[in-house]
Amino acid sequence: MRIDEVAHALGRDWQSGQALAARFGVTRAALWKSIERLRAMGLVIEASRTHGYRLAQPPDWLDVGQIRSSLRPFPACPRVELEMAFEIDSTNSALLRDATPATAPKVLLAEFQSAGRGRRGRHWRSPLGANLYLSLRWSSDRGIAGLGGLSLVTGLAITRALRPFGIAIRLKWPNDLWIGQDKLGGILIEASGEHAGPCRVVIGIGLNVRMPVDAAQDIDQPWTDLARAGAAPLDRSRIAAALIGELLAALQRFEVDGLAPFLPDWEIHDALRDLPLSVHLGEQHIDGVGAGIDRLGQLQLCTDDGMRVFASGEVSVRPRRVHP
Ligand code: BTN
Repeated sequence: MRIDEVAHALGRDWQSGQALAARFGVTRAALWKSIERLRAMGLVIEASRTHGYRLAQPPDWLDVGQIRSSLRPFPACPRVELEMAFEIDSTNSALLRDATPATAPKVLLAEFQSAGRGRRGRHWRSPLGANLYLSLRWSSDRGIAGLGGLSLVTGLAITRALRPFGIAIRLKWPNDLWIGQDKLGGILIEASGEHAGPCRVVIGIGLNVRMPVDAAQDIDQPWTDLARAGAAPLDRSRIAAALIGELLAALQRFEVDGLAPFLPDWEIHDALRDLPLSVHLGEQHIDGVGAGIDRLGQLQLCTDDGMRVFASGEVSVRPRRVHP
């Protein structure tokens, strides 16, 4: 009995434990173990002695066939390799481990990540069937040195992808997706290869779609998801296809022209411009007001001592409360 088959067999209607166990040819105890495992993965399963099991809100499971066909209108993706995992440690880690020669861009999506990774060593909550967790591997000739600004380009591709779904997001430099000042998602970029030659980049995107409240309990910053933002209808496969399509188009442009053509669009989506900010560099912090980005994609901060510029590497930026 595969855990994904049990998950897919559950729906809005009650099904008795006996019938489910018989369907998979296992004991009720073995079925119960799978149910518990799915619960631990974040699926909200109702149980009743008399009725059996059901899902209060069945996920719209990702459908690779649908993603592939929704990708057709995007001209940039004729050769993209698409893979789907029901569960994985981290889609970024899996693509970084994958040593097969990269002949085409590869996308890996997962329904659940047991060790989803965020920036700065943080854990990325990845409950089953709730949100989008996807990574795209791209081969670039720009060299690692030429990838500055790639998280900004990725963020802008995501703004374009979400617009047709009625979702307007803003970008918090360098890699957060915001609605208001609540985090809707984030980007994790990891590269390997030559400083000034061929390199491989893995771009990971986590986007909250319908985050179950239980799974979000220990998130240490204000967050939101597409459902709370009023997006409807929420079809994760279509959203995934739009993300992949827009991202590939943006990457093709970035590969040739770099960050320059994206700068005007950043100005429109920059969530930090004119905001009082505190930039943290290890133990030190510098206060100022967001003043956009420079041509390299670095954050500009207007401080009492003049303009300061920060690369995305190891700084963290927080909006600052200003007391009147
Ligand atoms: C952040 O805001 O800290 C970045 C979050 C990136 C999360 C995504 S989910 C898909 C991919 N796989 C991972 O382990 N992380 C990224």
